Amino acid sequence: MSARVAALIPAAGSGERLGMGAKALLELNGITLLERAIRCLAPLCDEMVVALPSDQLGFELPEVVRKIAGGTTRQETVKRLLEATNADFVLVHDAARPFLPLEVAHKVLSAAKEFGSSTAALPAADTLVLEKDGNWDLLIDRSNVRAVQTPQGFNRILLLEAHLQAVQENWEATDDAGLVARLGKPVALVNGDPRLFKVTKPGDWALAQAFARVWDAENRWV
Ligand code: C5P
Repeated sequence: MSARVAALIPAAGSGERLGMGAKALLELNGITLLERAIRCLAPLCDEMVVALPSDQLGFELPEVVRKIAGGTTRQETVKRLLEATNADFVLVHDAARPFLPLEVAHKVLSAAKEFGSSTAALPAADTLVLEKDGNWDLLIDRSNVRAVQTPQGFNRILLLEAHLQAVQENWEATDDAGLVARLGKPVALVNGDPRLFKVTKPGDWALAQAFARVWDAENRWV
């Protein structure tokens, strides 16, 4: 029997920094951020579970998608999503990243199957420095620096172990690969994509609105 894959989509954030209400449910060119993440992941998965704010569980989604209530932090939300599936592998992808090229998701999943854990990550294009009191302090060698994105892929049991350990040690990370790395397990890095940028602040929203038309023309789904 082939391994079962579940897409887990945290979409329960309040979108506080954007200031427009539940971010995942906002529309770009007539399609919500959440629906965009769902459509990108659907070809790779046997099941999908989405975490929504508890007052948005009535939000209409395709019937194949299961809905659960998210937690107060992203980490808590992902733990709940993990507990809602028994798939062999999981692909965790933030609804806040609505433009997910299929080939990136595919490579992340393949690497997770091979190594147990993987994430999309982008090499740094800019010069990187540490700042001190508003001034340039130290130059960082950018050649080995990566900006970690989602999707992230995992053997489900491994990620669950990482989450349980984090709860036990009261440890909070900004993503799931960070929790696995903390266990001392390898996390394979797969080349990410600039189109996978996270919609966080009003400037990102403006960029996403403009880019949605280009993406939709290329992906022919509107
Ligand atoms: O807030 P931020 O954009 O970093 O959140 C990343 C992702 O995690 C978003 O898709 C957001 O909806 C989700 N999230 C969640 N539950 C929380 C906080 C964030 O599902 N409590």
